Amino acid sequence: MIDWTNQYAQEMKHFKGYPIGKTLKYLTDPEIISLAGGLPSPQTFQTSEFRAASEKILKHDIDKIMQYSAIPGEESLVDAVIQFLKRDNISLDRQQVLITTSGQHGLDLTGRALLDKGDIVLVDRPTFAGALVAFQMEAPRFVGVDIEPDGTNVAVLEQTIQQLKLENKIPKFIYVVPDFQNPTGITMGLEKRKALLKISYAFHIPIIEDSPYRDLRYHGQTLPSLFSLDQELYEGGGNVIGVYTFSKIFCPGLRVGFNIGPPDVIQKMTNIKEGNILNTPKYNQDMCTAYLTEMDVEAHFDRCRAYYQEKLALFLETMETYFPDNSHVTWTIPQGGLFLWVTLADHVDTAKLFFEAIKHQVAFVPGEQFYGENPEKNHMRINFSFSTKPQLVEAVKRLSTCIKSFV
Ligand SMILES: Cc1ncc(COP(=O)(O)O)c(C=O)c1O
Repeated sequence: MIDWTNQYAQEMKHFKGYPIGKTLKYLTDPEIISLAGGLPSPQTFQTSEFRAASEKILKHDIDKIMQYSAIPGEESLVDAVIQFLKRDNISLDRQQVLITTSGQHGLDLTGRALLDKGDIVLVDRPTFAGALVAFQMEAPRFVGVDIEPDGTNVAVLEQTIQQLKLENKIPKFIYVVPDFQNPTGITMGLEKRKALLKISYAFHIPIIEDSPYRDLRYHGQTLPSLFSLDQELYEGGGNVIGVYTFSKIFCPGLRVGFNIGPPDVIQKMTNIKEGNILNTPKYNQDMCTAYLTEMDVEAHFDRCRAYYQEKLALFLETMETYFPDNSHVTWTIPQGGLFLWVTLADHVDTAKLFFEAIKHQVAFVPGEQFYGENPEKNHMRINFSFSTKPQLVEAVKRLSTCIKSFV
């Protein structure tokens, strides 16, 4: 019998995959209210429209659906994506779009295209755990910069880059989720967006803008994306790669997303996709094309926003009631997205609290999973989109009892 541990690729020997998946496996008791996953609510799924579009596609195109399809993506979907992004002041040619099999795939292609072992990736502290795990495939070094209530601390980011420069190290890229960041729910302010681009221009460091939640804004004004600002400020752009997914605004089951960027980079990612999954299923792509071109997307967004806004308000209100001023519990107040970030007293280790919470039949994701280096232990990522309203209220009550008994 082969000793497989000796056969693993060097970089894979200690690779453990997605930590959140491992957290979720403890949630076996059906009575547990899970605020852990990043699931959109099935209440926002357009099921009858989905069925109708599916029947039409299967009736007219079943032979093509059952066949291999174009690696860069179906032209009809690429064109629909170009149209879709026009409303967000982004102007693209077909060569600037690659259809991916979800946002996670888009991040994987980005890492594979740009990273060598040991390369420095600048990330927020905290940042999206799925991006960390995707980029970890290439064994880079993550350098974190604390996030502030209005996004990345760009002053510290610049100092960090200056410091690295003194050591002859230029970061390979900066990864950010500017709108309603996963895990904190924080949105980057306009001035910071501009400052971040300035840093990108000054030091020639690309920005990866991950944008799954952009259309899920419940309060305040939409801010321009980094991609559109780059196009506006810098002769049509070229410094930003956009990673998008239909998972949170349509449904995650189809696993379709898209990356946008300079044609050469998109071509490189397309070549990698050839060796990676070849093509994204045509059926799934055609469903997304139908979603963008035949369903009323804006009305759908309005419904999602109204629905999630209420849930967020209820969650915040319940926390106000059950976590009084003296409880040392604080939280972010997101303007959109699916998550908020709860901070406990410094000494609380939420990885331990997690097991206590399970006993109280409630779950969250321990904050330590969202750090590229030097994790902080006293935070929880909370998802407020999936559970029902009564469950959300009950979850806060259970959390409050659990925190009081644990602390
Ligand atoms: C910031 C961010 N990027 C990417 C993804 C991955 O999206 P997908 O489910 O399409 O793979 C997620 C999913 O939660 C996310 O929060």
